[in-house]
Amino acid sequence: MLSGKTIVLGVTGGIAAYKAATLCSKLVQKGANVHVIMTSSAKQFITELTLQSLSKNAVFSDTFDERDPSVVSHIRMADAADLVLIAPATANVIAKMAHGLADDMLTTTLLATMAPVMVAPAMNVHMYGHPAVMENMKTLEQRGVMMIEPGEGLLACGYVGKGRMEEPESIVAVVERYFDEEKKAEPGLLHGKKVVVTSGGTIERIDPVRYITNDSSGKMGFAIAKAAREMGASVHLIHGHTDTAPPAGIDAEAVQSADDMYQAVLKHWHDSDMVIKAAAVADYRPAETASSKIKKMGDTMTLELIKTVDILEQLGKSKTNQFLIGFAAETHNVEVYAKDKLVRKNCDLIVANDVTAEGAGFRSDTNVVQVYDADGLVEQMPVMSKDEIARRLLTIAAARMNGAGN
Ligand code: PMT
Repeated sequence: MLSGKTIVLGVTGGIAAYKAATLCSKLVQKGANVHVIMTSSAKQFITELTLQSLSKNAVFSDTFDERDPSVVSHIRMADAADLVLIAPATANVIAKMAHGLADDMLTTTLLATMAPVMVAPAMNVHMYGHPAVMENMKTLEQRGVMMIEPGEGLLACGYVGKGRMEEPESIVAVVERYFDEEKKAEPGLLHGKKVVVTSGGTIERIDPVRYITNDSSGKMGFAIAKAAREMGASVHLIHGHTDTAPPAGIDAEAVQSADDMYQAVLKHWHDSDMVIKAAAVADYRPAETASSKIKKMGDTMTLELIKTVDILEQLGKSKTNQFLIGFAAETHNVEVYAKDKLVRKNCDLIVANDVTAEGAGFRSDTNVVQVYDADGLVEQMPVMSKDEIARRLLTIAAARMNGAGN
């Protein structure tokens, strides 16, 4: 599974460093070329010789210990890595990473690498829960660092709680899954599939000059439509009000109201393999649309609103073979509301975004999402471009559609 992959394994100074030996050995057994970098504190817990023997590669810990004059070791490591994995990661290294410090071989390599980074924290339960550590981990996640949550149990310090480094077998499984997903993001993944994407905000008319709409720019749905096409699908994009024109070369249909969108989706529904509802659809519309401009009268005015059709819910009810993906735009209780929508609207996946979070939601080029299925969290995607989120989401969906499981 990991053959041909170069993994830089960063080992930092906690008691869980002893597990790095098993981790290193298992990665090597899976075919990875593992290069270990240890911090000086890590060497208090485990020897360089152990990790050198298991990885069959020289172990580095001192930035200035340059053994080959023709290269700069930390740059060579940074460039060669397909993945940098820090396990165990102490609160100290997490803080250094969050603040961009580079005072040893590991942290200089981390600043220099363009490879994806995974971090498996290990520390005392109170350290793990400390606001500073939490804040640093959040910063890293927002930069795209993948966190491998520690487990709960008896810690070496005697406390029971969260902070125990995830077991080496589970870390290897996370690493394998990561490379597997990457491999699956192939151009032909949705070849032959018919995909319908909705995007943008609906417009609910009050009169010929006024309407109710929302902040959706259409970017999220456009990114999904583009990614689906790149993966080989035949895509039909149904969009409401958007900030820009739909991507060139995509079969796009403009609609206004929730009802228009419903009718447009229905025309393609029975024929489609996958429907992704990224549109922000109005939940209510004016009970009456005036045929001429409403004139100003009293100091107040009451507008009666009635419920629109819930398109996603209707699709969920009549679903046969279609793979249905909903979105949930929330400002609070994100997980609870998203899971409720997943079940109520009978979706296969729901993509939750907290639209108040920095870099997430309406109008921005990036988003921060959690993807859920009926069993719970499938993937937490830190802040990343809507294009990247679209690719990852479709990769997950395609694997499930094609029966490749969870
Ligand atoms: O367009 P951008 O500026 O890029 O912003 C992206 C986004 C924030 C709009 C997008 O990421 C997003 O969250 N889209 C869903 C917005 C929304 O309407 O969420 P909701 O939680 O209100 O609705 C839940 C789901 O039901 C959505 O899939 C929605 O399309 C669908 N729905 C809602 C109401 C309705 N009457 N019919 C529906 O089909």
